[in-house]
Amino acid sequence: MSSIDWKGLPFGYFKTDYNVRCYYIDGKWGELEVSDSEYITMHMAATCLHYGQEAFEGMKAFTGKDGKVRIFRLDENGKRMNRSAVGLMMPEVPAELFRKAILKAVKMNIKYVPPYGEGASLYVRPLLIGTGAQVGVKPAKEYMFMVFVGPVGPYFKEGFNPVKMQIVRDYDRAAPLGTGSIKVGGNYAASLRASERAHDEGYASCIFLDAKEKKYIDEAGPANFFGIKNNTYITPDSVSILPSITNMSLRTIAEEIGMKVERRHVPVEELETFEECGACGTAAVISPICKIVDRDSGKVYQYCKDGHVGPISEKLYNRLKGIQEGIEEDKYGWITFVE
Ligand code: PLP
Ligand code: COI
Repeated sequence: MSSIDWKGLPFGYFKTDYNVRCYYIDGKWGELEVSDSEYITMHMAATCLHYGQEAFEGMKAFTGKDGKVRIFRLDENGKRMNRSAVGLMMPEVPAELFRKAILKAVKMNIKYVPPYGEGASLYVRPLLIGTGAQVGVKPAKEYMFMVFVGPVGPYFKEGFNPVKMQIVRDYDRAAPLGTGSIKVGGNYAASLRASERAHDEGYASCIFLDAKEKKYIDEAGPANFFGIKNNTYITPDSVSILPSITNMSLRTIAEEIGMKVERRHVPVEELETFEECGACGTAAVISPICKIVDRDSGKVYQYCKDGHVGPISEKLYNRLKGIQEGIEEDKYGWITFVE
């Protein structure tokens, strides 16, 4: 696909040739089907449209330096999708079906996997929705699981350059005993007003605090937060954030390079003490944060003052990218090859 400007790709929708779909009817999953349509026909009373029975996932496929296509942590995404399914009373997607669907969707669109070195990847988006009709608030009897893919560039336009973030207190993304820890559309709907306002006010994203006490760092927009000080990787432990697979991987890498790892409450005031901060996720990869502004108090927390990415964030980023692109050994079995 020489006509694609790989380097100029935004993080957005890109039409590819095929997607795969599977239907859950009469208590069981059917066969995987291939579709070339970008549209879904469904009942107007489908529960995903009215009562939010919708969960999704996000992972990436990369062309390695050796030309092979690698998918990062496919099985972890499958496990998380099933936790989301359980959380919204939807049927789980069997691990084998999930794997088969992802591989098929990537293989059938292999020409859209960006070449090595272009700073882009193929984003893989699995989706699970209630398609059965209900008007009373109850789970559907029918569901659809589908996977579509598309080449993407960096989530934040800054790429691997520092971003500015804004702490907000007048919106919550998720309640402590709500759905924050699973990947369901409702959490993103709830985050829209605060994130759009943050964009309008000149920030890449907003940082939500814990909804109950407003004392601790919760989620960094569509990504987890981490801070670094005293050779320690510190990331919030919270019931209302999404357990990020990127963050999980970075914790492993941090330990591997001799850092301590702490997963605990991170009080807002602690921001003052970090040497480096970042947001991490599949889409965000590592987005170093150069400045955090507290929208209420006006307090400014400044990092990488000279505009450069911190050395530890850079080390973590290079190791993660190295594994994803086959430059460094995949000693934890995080990679699935597309053959
Ligand atoms: N937090 C939120 C709210 C997200 O949407 C994402 C993206 O998936 C993440 C964190 C990062 O998770 P992961 O690293 O598994 O992509
Ligand atoms: C991801 O990182 O995969 C996300 O889901 C973030 C956002 C695009 C929702």
